[in-house]
Amino acid sequence: MDDRGIRSVLGVARSVLSDLDLEVVLERVLESARELTGARYAALGVLDESRTGLARFLTAGLDPQAREAIGVLPRGRGVLGELIRDPRPLRLREVGAHPRSYGFPGGHPPMTSFLGVPILVAGEPYGNLYLTDAQGAEEFSEDDEQAVMMLAEFAGVAIDHARRYTGAETQRHALQQTVAALDATIQIARAVGGETDVAQILELVAKRGRALVSARALVIEQLRENQLVVAAAAGEIPPGLANRTVDLQHSVASAALRTLRSQRLEEEPNRARFERHGLGRLGVTATAGLLVPLVYRGHAYGVLVAIDRLEDGPGFTADDQRLLEAFGASAATALATAESAAADRRRQRLAAAEHERGRWARELHDETLQGLAGLRLGLSAALRAAEPGDPLADAVRQAVSQIGDEIAGLRSLITDLRPAALDELGLEPAIVALAERASRNGLEVDCSIDLAHEQQRTPGRLLPELETAVYRVIQEALTNARKHGHAERAVVEVHEDATHVNVRIRDDGDGFDPQATTDGFGLLGMRERTQLADGSFAIDSTPGRETVVTASFPTRHADEVWKSTG
Ligand SMILES: Nc1ncnc2c1ncn2[C@@H]1O[C@H](COP(=O)(O)OP(=O)(O)OP(=O)(O)O)[C@@H](O)[C@H]1O
Ligand SMILES: [Mg+2]
Repeated sequence: MDDRGIRSVLGVARSVLSDLDLEVVLERVLESARELTGARYAALGVLDESRTGLARFLTAGLDPQAREAIGVLPRGRGVLGELIRDPRPLRLREVGAHPRSYGFPGGHPPMTSFLGVPILVAGEPYGNLYLTDAQGAEEFSEDDEQAVMMLAEFAGVAIDHARRYTGAETQRHALQQTVAALDATIQIARAVGGETDVAQILELVAKRGRALVSARALVIEQLRENQLVVAAAAGEIPPGLANRTVDLQHSVASAALRTLRSQRLEEEPNRARFERHGLGRLGVTATAGLLVPLVYRGHAYGVLVAIDRLEDGPGFTADDQRLLEAFGASAATALATAESAAADRRRQRLAAAEHERGRWARELHDETLQGLAGLRLGLSAALRAAEPGDPLADAVRQAVSQIGDEIAGLRSLITDLRPAALDELGLEPAIVALAERASRNGLEVDCSIDLAHEQQRTPGRLLPELETAVYRVIQEALTNARKHGHAERAVVEVHEDATHVNVRIRDDGDGFDPQATTDGFGLLGMRERTQLADGSFAIDSTPGRETVVTASFPTRHADEVWKSTG
């Protein structure tokens, strides 16, 4: 959807503000959904009291004749019923091909691609947003799905507001505010469509959020690995605020995250928390403040901190709070999407690198190694045929032994690149072989391994990417122990319980300061691998003492994947 499209949607939205009611807002939602996704038709189904069928059905894109021809409202059978029974986004290339398809009644315009998203109001199923016939595309895209999810989120908030604020005047006012949030929501939805860079989305959320509630400044604190980090800010903020951390236990933001409720700076004991543990400690001054948690599907991603209203401030109104909460819901959706896209990209990159290593290992094995072996054979034969006392024989003998060394070196390089044992025999033999190789190179390694599959407790092996991650973490830790710590002994423990694979590598080397910055990739790589597997990673070391690397991965077995998808 281009800028002109958005402006026209917003223009219409503003022009109807004067006699705004919920119906108008819902119509706006339908129009926006169509414009954002390029759908020919959009509809909004409201569930009946039993939540098994539809009580109402609003449409957009149908001309009056078509609407009349359809006649009765869909009852919520077929594919529409699927979304009622299982309120999760549903995207289909061909709605008629879905096993639950009920077929269209006579006179109904033909429809092919389909996208349906549930609307929750105050956490309860309320209805669904349906789109059909992606124009100029075979089917709706993932971006379309995200955009519509945001609109559905928004519609839920608008409906909730309309219900809570009865009385024509207050309701109208609440809805006016909600349309302003729709404006911001659409912009965020658009940004996510074209942009999955988390930093840029945060930037945009900060700017739009600040403008939405006329704040002097708006700061986003993002949860990253058990830390609350200043991830973006807009407006008047002290320099050098980016990437500083605030206390996760005692700050106001932490209270917002714990309770999943907005907090106000003016309330006790928030003021003291802010000054002592939060942004106040980092030099941000505030008379009033509003903190809204960024929550998506019950999971908190961070907090929006709005500081000092500029007009009629500095306190923020109840409307501001509703607005920022509605906006926060969309922003959290955007953030969740971008974060998972970023993780997918990193996962793909790792998988590609692993694949490439495998390719190199095969190539070196099949070409170079075989070539060297052939050469050694030839030279050995020549040596056997040589006359006693031939002056060349000594040189050939030396060459044969040198080639032997090269072959051994190349073999171990190939195994490091991608151990065949890992693919063919499994994780345990691969780790044991790794330990044996380290021992041959002067680092004595003891292994204690207890893996569920290897001990016949589960039928399936760990997922390949999980096996690779465990293997690579151990490999890097042992290499570091030898290379940097000059360790003589190391202990590798791999223990799998019902939920996790716990990995521990201890070496008796020189130790180091894990906080010190380095330009190596090893530690970074271990951390990234564990993160991408939703695991945790830690290093315990001080100079002059042993080093302990621990990593813990939630277990996932091949058979479980089959169970959950099949
Ligand atoms: N077990 C260890 N004992 C002592 N020092 C260590 C140990 N592990 C890591 N270090 C220190 O941490 C630094 C960073 O390690 P990292 O593995 O990230 O990088 P690297 O080994 O220097 O390079 P790369 O792994 O990219 O080849 C090392 O340079 C070393 O100073
Ligand atoms: Mg290293």
